[in-house]
Amino acid sequence: MTAIRRGRAEDLEVVAAIQQASLGAARWNVADYLEQSFLVAVDGDRILGFLVARTVAADECEILNLAVAPDFRRKGVARGLLDSALQGFRGGVFLEVRESNGIAQEFYKSLGFKELSKRKGYYDSPPETAIVMKFYSC
Ligand SMILES: CC(C)(COP(=O)(O)OP(=O)(O)OC[C@H]1O[C@@H](n2cnc3c(N)ncnc32)[C@H](O)[C@@H]1OP(=O)(O)O)[C@@H](O)C(=O)NCCC(=O)NCCS
Repeated sequence: MTAIRRGRAEDLEVVAAIQQASLGAARWNVADYLEQSFLVAVDGDRILGFLVARTVAADECEILNLAVAPDFRRKGVARGLLDSALQGFRGGVFLEVRESNGIAQEFYKSLGFKELSKRKGYYDSPPETAIVMKFYSC
């Protein structure tokens, strides 16, 4: 059974491996996640996925990264992480996603996110436009 808890230093090796295996995920230094709002989805000892977010204002937050281990996708893990991250939060939730990452866009749309704008040349390695998406959590 999947549970959601705060991420810890001992989770970082597995989180880095999930990030590495997830094409659409941001490739940041996972140690920095400990300074953000960092959640992991676990089944017993196994880490299935993670989410990193930060509050940018009292009524605004940003999803910085989200990924689920390839063999645990499409089982509601990311939905559980996002629901948990937004529990009790009221306000605008923003994120950027690569234009080519149709799966993540479908995922966010399924939860009510709408496309807000595009940022040309936002990404590098490889260069790509970002789609900015927004959801109002209440
Ligand atoms: C995007 C991602 C996090 C979704 O994780 P997940 O745990 O598989 O998603 P969920 O099982 O919670 O899916 C919830 C809903 O999103 C939509 N969805 C998820 N994956 C989808 C897919 N491959 N195709 C179409 N819709 C999809 C569906 O509506 C799904 O509900 P359903 O399964 O009842 O139909 C995962 O695919 C992933 O790790 N991708 C690589 C990293 C990435 O792109 N991160 C986003 C960075 S912005």
